[in-house]
Amino acid sequence: MYADRIVSGMRPTGSLHLGHYHGVLKNWINLQHEHECLFFVADWHALTTHYDAPQQIEQHAFDMVVDWLAAGVDPAHASIFIQSQVPEHAELHLLLSMMTPLGWLERVPTYKDQQEKLSERDLSTYGFLGYPLLMSADILIYRANMVPVGEDQIPHIEFTRELARRFNHMYGREPGFEEKAEAAVKKLGSKKARLYEEMRTRYQEQGDEGALESARALLYETQNLTVSDRERLFGYLEGGGKMILVEPEALLTPASRMPGLDGQKMSKSYNNTIGLREDAESVRKKIRTMPTDPARIRRTDPGDPAKCPVWQLHVVYSDDSTREWVQQGCKSAGIGCLDCKQPVIEAVLKEQEPMQERAAVYLDDPALVRNIVADGCEKASKLASETMRDVREAMGLRYTR
Ligand code: TRP
Ligand code: SF4
Repeated sequence: MYADRIVSGMRPTGSLHLGHYHGVLKNWINLQHEHECLFFVADWHALTTHYDAPQQIEQHAFDMVVDWLAAGVDPAHASIFIQSQVPEHAELHLLLSMMTPLGWLERVPTYKDQQEKLSERDLSTYGFLGYPLLMSADILIYRANMVPVGEDQIPHIEFTRELARRFNHMYGREPGFEEKAEAAVKKLGSKKARLYEEMRTRYQEQGDEGALESARALLYETQNLTVSDRERLFGYLEGGGKMILVEPEALLTPASRMPGLDGQKMSKSYNNTIGLREDAESVRKKIRTMPTDPARIRRTDPGDPAKCPVWQLHVVYSDDSTREWVQQGCKSAGIGCLDCKQPVIEAVLKEQEPMQERAAVYLDDPALVRNIVADGCEKASKLASETMRDVREAMGLRYTR
């Protein structure tokens, strides 16, 4: 049993490139060994901006999952699934929409930014305004406490936290909460109950975050609690009502240092990418034709690596002695640019080799991918339906009497 649950999604925008690998995917791969991880294809999010291009979604989703697997996301350690295959996300999105102030959505910075940036699309839609709310539902439905995201997504996590707080405040205050919480404390057994009370007091009176953490850990490792009692104890700890939804924290993914072929950040919109599974011939060609220091017109002209995008790739891929060789050879015109590019070509191909091998297995037998995704969906659905049961009940929609 893990204490942390991590969820993250990616919009299916087509094949991934090495920038995605060095930024997001390596991070996911490290996380999967330490925490419970859920990674999903945000296909509904793709439709919020590209609702006029539904033909590509399925292929993009498949290619992206193969890229994840190729990069080393391991289905034995992480659940991989597709957002639209777990329709509870949509139900939670709907129910949350009832209590989400319109102003909160309009104020999310990406709303106006993206509308301006993607001005060729008509984004004055209901779905696009709800983009951050759908993302909140993706996170809250799994009661995830950590969400690895890039800098641009931080406001969405902040929005999600405020929403969870509002929800718990509004729906977590059942009648007789204090008494019920006290009764739940007793059920912990005398030793744990004493510890819990001690830490609760330390947190509430002295703001001791460490005590809060330890008390939470204690609750996570206690097996014989009902879901309701667990929610009460989490909420009681912090002085609120039942904690039905969990406030997540952003786990900022360090910005990728991966430069593109022109020295700018690698990005599809700059047309400067190397695909994660691009074939070797094409990789060689792309690197061989990369621009270099414009001062090196002839082989005999000395250059300056600081003015050359190839150097930036050496920073990512080369060891000290190779870099020393580049610095020396470039400034003295001792090496040519093609010589200089050769170790980079080899390093990129070497990095891609195991990815190509892993991908080949899945491309040979796509049913493997379908099974992995079906397994992931099943695990996700189970967690999602537990949360939805509590959310429906909290919002007066139980219908069992
Ligand atoms: N909005 C995210 C992005 O563009 C993708 C996303 C959708 C997501 N739902 C999520 C990320 C939930 C983390 C958690 O990158
Ligand atoms: Fe760039 Fe290398 Fe050529 Fe120097 S030798 S300009 S670093 S490619």
